[in-house]
Amino acid sequence: MKTSAHIYLTGFRGTGKTSVAARLAAAWAMEKIDLDDVIEAAAGKSIRQIFAVGGESHFRDLETEALRLVAAGPKSIISLGGGAILRPENRTLIASTGQCIWLDATADEICNRVLADASTAERRPALTALSQREEITRLLAEREDLYRASSDYHVDTSGKSIDEVASEIVKIW
Ligand code: S3P
Repeated sequence: MKTSAHIYLTGFRGTGKTSVAARLAAAWAMEKIDLDDVIEAAAGKSIRQIFAVGGESHFRDLETEALRLVAAGPKSIISLGGGAILRPENRTLIASTGQCIWLDATADEICNRVLADASTAERRPALTALSQREEITRLLAEREDLYRASSDYHVDTSGKSIDEVASEIVKIW
């Protein structure tokens, strides 16, 4: 491992950030933190409830607070929510406190993974009034440059298992 700071995982929903973070934490004997878990614990509410009560901008405020907290904490593998790179302040914080790995996949594969994973519907409220496939395609296009700008490493996860992605990262690191 080359870094002495946090390792952030960014990327859209369904790219395997949380599961890959768990594999990397085990491989490198590091602590792992899921930013969405930190937000829910601090708010005492699910992400869906946070969105329902205060809307997306309230959620983004809590996300920035949670990011500040974990960024200031001990060195960890931090899996970010898919929209954590939206705020410039967050991107600056990520860049100044660690290295960031972007887990990517084709839009088609992300759509298929997200739509197949019904268990995540509870946690991931719709962000727009579009159909889920349209929303994913639109958000991906909007965010692609931000994922690129926020990350030091880009890993294409298309067609790969979580274990394959994790071992690829361990090898290149
Ligand atoms: C979001 C992704 C979610 C969660 C929230 C918003 C997004 O995290 O932070 O529902 O804007 O893409 P995951 O990427 O871990 O699902």
